[in-house]
Amino acid sequence: MPPMPDSKSTVLTDRFGRVVNYLRLSVTDRCDFRCVYCMAEDMVFVPRQQLLTLEELAFVGQAFVELGVSRIRLTGGEPLVRRNLMSLVHSLGKLAGLDELLLTTNGARLESVAGELVNAGIKRINISLDSLQPLRFATITRTGELHRVLSGIAAAKRAGIERVKINAVIMRGQNDDEIIALLDFALEHGLDISFIEEMPLGVTSRSDRQRELVSSQEIRARISSFYPLMASAETSPGPSRYYRIPGSSSRIGFISANTHNFCESCNRVRVTCEGQLLLCLGNEHSVDLRAVIRAHPGDMDVLKTAIVAAMAIKPERHHFYDPDRPQVVRFMNATGG
Ligand code: 5AD
Ligand code: SF4
Repeated sequence: MPPMPDSKSTVLTDRFGRVVNYLRLSVTDRCDFRCVYCMAEDMVFVPRQQLLTLEELAFVGQAFVELGVSRIRLTGGEPLVRRNLMSLVHSLGKLAGLDELLLTTNGARLESVAGELVNAGIKRINISLDSLQPLRFATITRTGELHRVLSGIAAAKRAGIERVKINAVIMRGQNDDEIIALLDFALEHGLDISFIEEMPLGVTSRSDRQRELVSSQEIRARISSFYPLMASAETSPGPSRYYRIPGSSSRIGFISANTHNFCESCNRVRVTCEGQLLLCLGNEHSVDLRAVIRAHPGDMDVLKTAIVAAMAIKPERHHFYDPDRPQVVRFMNATGG
């Protein structure tokens, strides 16, 4: 038996000395939107019987928390389309040792559940919003209605979510003329905002993603001609670099998966809705936790041992847009955003 680490928060340490304390748990690969950068128009979704049940998802969450994970983000797909999601939110919200329970959503179904999410312990919500123009929003999401998302954002603020953050994927020629409008919207409503570089996950209808990539550096330069951007030392559970505008409480983040490699400080892993533990967003390395759980129902020790062992195959970094590396075939919705 190897000696037990003395602090529970260092149990999940990989070969490069990075401590994993953050889990992104996908509860479904389904979504009521079909965002052009995330999905193909015709998607085949995981058959329901292959999904982890809500009880299994809670069990996985508990295992990670017992191994020192202090933050869990529920993702999808769109988490709010998963039936009875609230029972999972309540179970996770009760876990001792979990400091933060977070949610990423497209916002379309948020209005009616925002209050309950707060009661269950959700402190922060990230909402995707790539355009404030209804027709363009409909084009980018293929099926989405802007007004529902705006109502969802307002409801989250009203319900008392501590931080609501907008995630905007910026694509040249599609919405890069809205960088300032999206920022103004965030400033006006006291929201945080992150501008995201599109990542090449899955084969979508967007054939020339690399050419249409708008780098974080370019977005910052464009903002700087309107507002003074001050670099901030703040960090969050995500890979964002943060800036502030004097006089505003909003944090302005930039997620540069392609042009800036943040892998050296990676503190996270993902579990897909099928129970695949993904050790890296940009690699296929994974461990089938569903197989472990179903072979040993209710056996927490076996599950925890499998998770600890998986740390040995966490890759050092991703290689997005590297022509010498195979493209990642997993779509974002199957990855857990
Ligand atoms: N590249 C970058 N961001 C993406 N998202 C989905 N697909 C991609 C992609 N290919 C973002 C969405 C959402 C978050 C969960 O992931 O905008 O905010
Ligand atoms: Fe749905 Fe989010 Fe993917 Fe858009 S980016 S299709 S909202 S999961």
